[in-house]
Formats: sequence, structure tokens, C-alpha cells
Amino acid sequence: MRSDADTVLALLTAPWTTHAVHTALRIGVFDILDEGPRTTGDIAHRTRTHAPSLERLLRLLTATHLVTPHPDGHALAPAARLLTRAHPHSLAPLARLYALPAITSAWQHLEHTIRTGHAAFPHANGAPVYPYLHATPDDAAVFDTAMAAASHTAATRLATDHDFTTARTLTDVGGGNGRFLATLMAHHPHLSGTLTDRADVLARLDPAMDRLVAQGRARTRPADFFTDAAPPADVYTLSRVLHNWDDADAARILTRIRSTMPAHARLLVVERLLSPDSTLSIAHDLHMMAITGGRERTRDQYAALCTRAHLDLAHVLHLDAGFCALVAVPAQAH
Ligand SMILES: C[S@@+](CC[C@H](N)C(=O)[O-])C[C@H]1O[C@@H](n2cnc3c(N)ncnc32)[C@H](O)[C@@H]1O
Repeated sequence: MRSDADTVLALLTAPWTTHAVHTALRIGVFDILDEGPRTTGDIAHRTRTHAPSLERLLRLLTATHLVTPHPDGHALAPAARLLTRAHPHSLAPLARLYALPAITSAWQHLEHTIRTGHAAFPHANGAPVYPYLHATPDDAAVFDTAMAAASHTAATRLATDHDFTTARTLTDVGGGNGRFLATLMAHHPHLSGTLTDRADVLARLDPAMDRLVAQGRARTRPADFFTDAAPPADVYTLSRVLHNWDDADAARILTRIRSTMPAHARLLVVERLLSPDSTLSIAHDLHMMAITGGRERTRDQYAALCTRAHLDLAHVLHLDAGFCALVAVPAQAH
């Protein structure tokens, strides 16, 4: 049986494992093993690293079930495929984001958030997250790619599980680099799409979105979702935006979208629902609190936000990886 000391020490040393995984990712261990089993010597040669030290790193990756022993050396365990570049639902971009000094330093200042109720990110980095990204293009590129990776699985499920047949036009609000919208449009060739976000984000489009723009199926519109009207559409999507903001700002964003929604339109809000059964959702809630000052919410909390914006939460569609699509329609009385 696990002792109390084991439980506490496992928590205290968890960041060491995280650093080890980031290091393996950075030097290319997962991509090399994705080609097939390799000896430590092979990997050390390819990655130009110190073989005895690499062997000890591989031992931790084996203990954490990312690598398995193999007669030819080491093999990639199934979960670690998500840390390779080639996997269609790769989480490697997210690993790069979480390892950025700007993010780790915010977590180091979590006490500031707990004491003051204000996000730690500005305290640690001198500016709120979006102005910081605007001024730091290298980090912004990592951020955009990571956001797209984080929501790609949800986009794929939404594309197959939600009925888009009656829609012709789609507006993705705060859509980042457009990978989310491009995924929906790839599954539904009859749709034309509008991607809105901050101008500097739209300058770094995902290649799939770039192609849709070149084909004339999609267009981009720089817009501030607090002040600019969202281009009217049959379906609006708002993926992982509301959790960045407190209730007052989230209600403002919804109200802006509602103001241009035709009566027949619907809004698909993609978020991870806060649940006592999901440690991941609770950890993400803390992450949002520290980084943006936002929060994860329960279904009822999203329903209340919708009501403030004269929207009705019609139903909730469960997607992969703990994500949901909350389907909101204009409230009957409006
Ligand atoms: C967490 S990311 C989600 C991106 C994308 N929807 C997805 O699911 O991958 C939040 C997005 O909101 C955008 N954003 C932040 N403030 C904004 C504003 N005032 N107006 C428009 N977009 C904004 C960011 O640039 C970013 O792309």
C-alpha cells in the first residue's frame, strides 16, 4: 500500500517528471522512437547527447509509461505518440507552451493570485497575457500553435457529432490561427467561414486555413470581440475563449455575438466543464486563474452567462478529452 509519505513525495517531485518529459520532447526522443525501437546509443547519436545521461532519462520515461523496454532497445508506448510531431492530434505544441518561461514563471507566482485575486501572469511578466504575446512574437507563435493543438480533437468530434447540414455560413470568434475552423470546414465542404481574432494572430494562419482563404471559401476579419460586431452567420463558434475571462467580460463577449445573431442562428461554445470528478478541469481552473484571471465553469454557470446575454443554453454535446460544445440559441423573448 502507498504510504502517506509516498503520496506527498509523488506530488512534490511531479515537476521533475514534467521537466524530464519536456527535455525528451525538445531533444527529439519521441520523434525518433516513432520511427521504431532504438538503442540508447542510436538515440544518443541522433540527438547528439551524452548516452549514459540519456539512459537515465529513458529510465524515468519507462517508469512513467511513455517508453517501453524492447529487445532492440526502447520503444514508444502508445500514450507517447501524442508527444510526437507526426500525430494528427499531437499535444507536443502544448508541451512547448507549458514549458515557456512566461508560463512557468506565472505558476511560480501563484501565491500572488491566491493573496490578491489577480492573475499571476502580469505580475511575473510585466503585462497581461495577450498584450505580452503581442509584444513577444516568438512566444505568440508557440501559443497559437498550442491553442490549435489543444482544441483540434474537440474540433474533429464537433465536426462529426454536430449537425451542420442546414448551415451555410460559420463565424469562428477568437478563432486563433484558424485550425479549428479549417477542421470544421474540411468535414463540411458546403460551409463558408469567417475567422475573427486579433490582427497579429491572423497574420500567423495555420496552413489549412491559408488554403481555404486562397480558395475563397474562408476570409479573415481582425476584430476585438469586446467592441466589434461578429460577422453574421448561421453558426458561430467560440472555442476556449470564455474560460479566459471573468463573468463580466465573458458576458460582454456573448452579448456582442448575440447582437448580430439572426433568429435562426446558433452559437457553439467549446469549453472543458468544471467537475469535481475531473482533476484536469480543476487544475485548468487554477491555470486560468493564474494566467488570464479567467476560470473554468460548470454547465449551470455557462447557462447563467448565456441568460445574461439573452441566449438560451439548448443542450450540451460531449466531445473528446473532457471538452463539451454548449449549444446556445437566441432567447425566445428577444
Ligand atoms: C485560448 S485561445 C483559443 C483559440 C481558438 N479559439 C482555439 O480554440 O484554438 C483565445 C483566443 O482569443 C483571442 N483573443 C484574446 N483577446 C481578444 C480580443 N479582445 N478580441 C479578439 N480575440 C481575442 C486570442 O488571440 C486567442 O486566439
